[in-house]
Amino acid sequence: MKILITGSNGLLGQKLLHTLSTNLQELIGCDLSERSLVDDVIHNYRQLDITERKPTVAAICDIAPQVIVHTAAMTEVDRCEIEKELCWRVNVTGTEHILAGAARVGAKVIFISSDYIFNGENGPYDEEAVPNPIGYYGRSKLAAENLIRGSGLDWTIIRTIVLYGYGINVRSSFVTWLLDMLRAEKVVRIVDDQWGNTTIVDDLAAGIERSVMLEKSGIFNIGGQSFKTRYKFALDIARVFDLPVEFITPITTGELRQAARRPLRSGLVIDKAERELYISFRTADEALELYKSQEQQAVRILN
Ligand SMILES: NC(=O)c1ccc[n+]([C@@H]2O[C@H](COP(=O)([O-])OP(=O)(O)OC[C@H]3O[C@@H](n4cnc5c(N)ncnc54)[C@H](OP(=O)(O)O)[C@@H]3O)[C@@H](O)[C@H]2O)c1
Repeated sequence: MKILITGSNGLLGQKLLHTLSTNLQELIGCDLSERSLVDDVIHNYRQLDITERKPTVAAICDIAPQVIVHTAAMTEVDRCEIEKELCWRVNVTGTEHILAGAARVGAKVIFISSDYIFNGENGPYDEEAVPNPIGYYGRSKLAAENLIRGSGLDWTIIRTIVLYGYGINVRSSFVTWLLDMLRAEKVVRIVDDQWGNTTIVDDLAAGIERSVMLEKSGIFNIGGQSFKTRYKFALDIARVFDLPVEFITPITTGELRQAARRPLRSGLVIDKAERELYISFRTADEALELYKSQEQQAVRILN
């Protein structure tokens, strides 16, 4: 099967190249930068800015994939609140261009969405919950979801939450940021009123692979097992990585004064994905142990 991955230099994109390659798929990655950051997986790579309609549609027509996993997005939530126009251009108009290309070649589109499409008043949310975003990033992801749903193509929407994991030169996640801070012995203030689950990228990529193999369509939530506040998750991180917990102080979201509002009681119910994709997602501790072993392996290779 020929699979195109947009945003293939991102955290999820890199992991998807590794995960999907084990099934001998024909893989093509595309992203903004000149070259692929993944050099240990056989794949073709194209530089592509999905905000440009003509090159995007032309690339898809030329590649003619059966499946497009569309991960490319502007993912920094506060930046999306400030640079709204760019956020819309990448997350919504970019998705529209992907769909235009997909329609020309009859490709299935798998779109990666977020728990930020919900207002965080009564999570965790299942696949039937009614979205009501409170920030611009969430609005852009919901608008893109609506384009996918109305496209008339075969589609899957996979919603995920607080993603982290190991990748080369990837954007800092909550886990990598916290590890850096604790290792530098800096005091961190972590919100104790934002609830949800967290997701290691390996579980998300495995779920996406299953959805491809089983030819599933529709909406699936993918996330970890453990539902807790960000502060409690920070304590887990410190414990698993043997770092001092006394540097971690609980605060409220209001004290942080972030540009974008955050859904407070969020979280994704993952039962449907576990049941229909025959997969069991990791607990927070299991996922952190996996991340720790990947980090240690990377250090061994570097040395
Ligand atoms: N991270 C999370 O906590 C989280 C939670 C829920 C859902 N999601 C969704 O999951 C997906 C993957 O997230 P991720 O963490 O892997 O994101 P990521 O690491 O930021 O990767 C996204 C990739 O898309 C690229 N990109 C940005 N604008 C582009 C454009 N105009 N044309 C082509 N490529 C472009 C980025 O390039 P640059 O780095 O050069 O900008 C980056 O390589 C996203 O759709 C995100 O919305 C993420």
